Amino acid sequence: MIKMSPPARSLIFGVVFFLFLSIFSFSTTNAHSCTEGFLSEAKRRNLVATFCKRYQESNGVEIAMKLKEKPRRLDIMVGAMLEEGTGWLAWGLNPGPEARMVGTQALIGIKNKSNLLWDTYNITTYTKFGCQLLPSPIDLNISNFNFSYIDYLQYHVIKATIVLDPLKYDVSRLNHVWQVGVDVDAVGKEPKMHAKALRNYDSTETINLMTGKGRGNRVHTSNLIRQVHGVLNIIGWGTLLPIGVLIARNFREYPLPCSGWKSYHISCQSVGYIVGSAGWAVGIWLGKASKYYSFPKHGIFGICIFTFATLQMLFLKLKPDDESKCRDYRNMFHHVLGYSLLVVSCINIVKGLRIMYLDENYWVPAYFGVAGCLAFIFLVFEIVSWFNFLCDKFQLRVLCDKDTANDEANSKKVSRDDGKVQPSDTPKNN
Ligand code: HEM
Ligand code: HEM
Repeated sequence: MIKMSPPARSLIFGVVFFLFLSIFSFSTTNAHSCTEGFLSEAKRRNLVATFCKRYQESNGVEIAMKLKEKPRRLDIMVGAMLEEGTGWLAWGLNPGPEARMVGTQALIGIKNKSNLLWDTYNITTYTKFGCQLLPSPIDLNISNFNFSYIDYLQYHVIKATIVLDPLKYDVSRLNHVWQVGVDVDAVGKEPKMHAKALRNYDSTETINLMTGKGRGNRVHTSNLIRQVHGVLNIIGWGTLLPIGVLIARNFREYPLPCSGWKSYHISCQSVGYIVGSAGWAVGIWLGKASKYYSFPKHGIFGICIFTFATLQMLFLKLKPDDESKCRDYRNMFHHVLGYSLLVVSCINIVKGLRIMYLDENYWVPAYFGVAGCLAFIFLVFEIVSWFNFLCDKFQLRVLCDKDTANDEANSKKVSRDDGKVQPSDTPKNN
């Protein structure tokens, strides 16, 4: 049985409670029914019998389809709000076993500065590796294909009729893929790479046209696991670890001596490490579960964070004697690694929020609020510490009242040769 100090227990309780609250405050849906405007436009074109969906978290693309059984004729209308200037909208079917980009037989509408163009494109592995994507015949029987702008909706819309080959396309497991991009080449026939965020990668679905039900390309069915990953990481690496560092730096002796600093520091770092590692493990699982895309920088930073933190935990056990030179090296290593960990964690959290496009809502300001508060407290303590240090060093008696409570703390520290103590000094008895 693991024995925990009371602060550790209350910290764990707090974390679990916060997690519980945050998980249930997230929304988990991805596809919604269409917006009223798009639905009425689809109805006007006699198109909604089978399904009409808005993919809120996938660039807000809306898709309406109608299947006519004999012959197997599929009418589609795909709409999205494109950015000002240039842009492109793509939709296609993938005859392969899975809904993914490579292998998609796509219809792409391109908006360049002066006009609208549309054509068919065969998306291959070469496209994924960055080769030009140019118009080509595709393996779909298409008619009435056009790309237009609906003024009152401010939507660009692809419309087409496809006769499905029963040998290649199973209407109960139809893989459809869509995408939105911004850049096109000067002539306007070549769409350039889309953005690399989840809202671009989650844009595939295998649908059952008989029931209208669909499933994305991920192993997990909702965003909940990603959100749990984010929350665990923010609490573990982004909140508890910095609080632990604050405690060790400022409550040890200077400027606010607190006898229990060590147990608070160890509790914060241990709980932070456990929660953060759990979040990291979920991230690794998520990375493995997404077969066709990855976030390499976020992943590498994540691995560095976990490695640094594990080294810190291991070094906790390594305690050379007080007089040994190794003691100084160990302390230096502990400090450098600790501060690097905080910086890399902060960067990776922001990267994670960007991947999920949470930087457009309250998440990034909320995280910056927490990080900013911690940084502010840190700064205030630093200023106080350095002020006291300078008072000591240069005997600025006019500025510094020597009879303050700090005298007690200062008198403890006349351990150095010159009798002066720097705020960054590390006592030997930690
Ligand atoms: C214009 C040229 C394009 C380029 C250079 C390109 C490149 C890429 C790359 C490199 C990835 C994977 C990123 C990773 O492995 O981390 C990707 C993913 C993806 N792309 Fe594209 N893409 C292009 C056009 C399209 C089009 C037209 C569509 C839709 C019809 C599309 C749909 C997707 C989807 C759904 C993913 C997620 C992974 C998957 O399902 O395979 N892309 N793209
Ligand atoms: C310091 C904190 C963080 C660490 C150490 C971390 C670690 C990781 C790792 C190792 C991966 C796997 C990468 C891959 O193989 O492609 C990952 C994926 C991911 N992380 Fe993080 N992460 C952190 C913060 C965040 C935050 C704050 C969010 C957003 C709320 C987030 C969102 C994601 C998402 C969406 C994925 C990809 C999921 C997928 O592939 O479906 N991460 N993370």
